[in-house]
Amino acid sequence: MAKIITFGIQKGGSSKTTTSGIVAYLLSKEYRVLAVDMDSQGNLTELLTQRDPYDFQGHTIFEALKEQDARRYIQRITDNLHIITADDHIARFSSWLYGTPYRGNMSLVLLETLETIQEQYDFIIIDTPPALGEQTVNALAAANYVVAMFEASKFCYSALSRFLETCVHVQEKVNREMQIAGILRCMIDTRRTDNKALIELVEEEYKELCFQTVITRTAATGRLSINGFEENNELNQAVIQYREFVKELIDRVQK
Ligand SMILES: Nc1ncnc2c1ncn2[C@@H]1O[C@H](COP(=O)(O)OP(=O)(O)OP(=O)(O)O)[C@@H](O)[C@H]1O
Ligand SMILES: [Mg+2]
Repeated sequence: MAKIITFGIQKGGSSKTTTSGIVAYLLSKEYRVLAVDMDSQGNLTELLTQRDPYDFQGHTIFEALKEQDARRYIQRITDNLHIITADDHIARFSSWLYGTPYRGNMSLVLLETLETIQEQYDFIIIDTPPALGEQTVNALAAANYVVAMFEASKFCYSALSRFLETCVHVQEKVNREMQIAGILRCMIDTRRTDNKALIELVEEEYKELCFQTVITRTAATGRLSINGFEENNELNQAVIQYREFVKELIDRVQK
C-alpha cells in the first residue's frame, strides 16, 4: 500500500515542485511511484513529463477528483514513475466542491480518489499550490506524511508556523493518522549570512522536526525545469543533495 507524502508551504517559489519532482524521480529508481499534481500551474506535470500541461486536458487530477476515481487518469512517464497531471482547471476545485452535493467529508475527496489506485504503488508524492485553500487541505488530509518546505526567506519563515498549524488542524479534524515528516530547509545561498541565520533560527525553534539535510541553491537544480531528467548531462549535480534527503525521508516514513 503506497505511503502518501505531500510537499507544501503556502509561500510561493519555495521549491515544492522541484523537490517533489526530484523525490518522485529518485524514489522511482527503486520503488513504484505515482506523482500527483494538485497545482493549477501544472509545474510538476511540466517538470516530470517535459510536456505542455494542456496536452493532458480532460485527463487530469480534476476529472479524477470529480469521479473520485483515479484509475483512468494515470499517465506513464517510465515503468516505475507515473503521474496524474494538472492544468489550470483544477483552480475550480473549490467552487466544484462547494457546488456539488457531496456525501462525505469535503477535505477527503483526494484521499478517496487516490484510494482507488493506492495498492499499485509504494509511494504517492503530491505537489501543492502556494495557498492554504481546498487543494492544499485535501492534499494534507490525503497524506500519511507531510514535508513542510522552508526556503530561507523572512516571508517563508512567517508562513511556516501557519502551515504547521494548518497541518495540526487537519490532523485534529480530518485525518488523525497524518504525520508531519519534517521541515526541509532549502534554496540556501551559502554566501548570505541572513540565509544562514534563518536556517539556524528554524532549527532552534523546530529542533528535530528539521531534516538534517539542507539543500543549497544550485544552478543545475534550477535548470531541471528546462533540461528535465532524461538525457540531462548535469543531472547528478542537480539531484545529488536530494539523495541524502530521500534517505532521511524514507527513514522517517518507514518507522
Ligand atoms: N535547489 C534549488 N537551486 C536552484 N534553484 C531552485 C532550487 N529549487 C528550486 N529552484 C528554482 O526556484 C524556482 C521556484 O521553485 P519551485 O517552482 O520548485 O517552487 P514552488 O514552491 O513549487 O513554487 P510555487 O509556489 O509557485 O508552486 C524555480 O525556478 C526552480 O527552478
Ligand atoms: Mg510549484
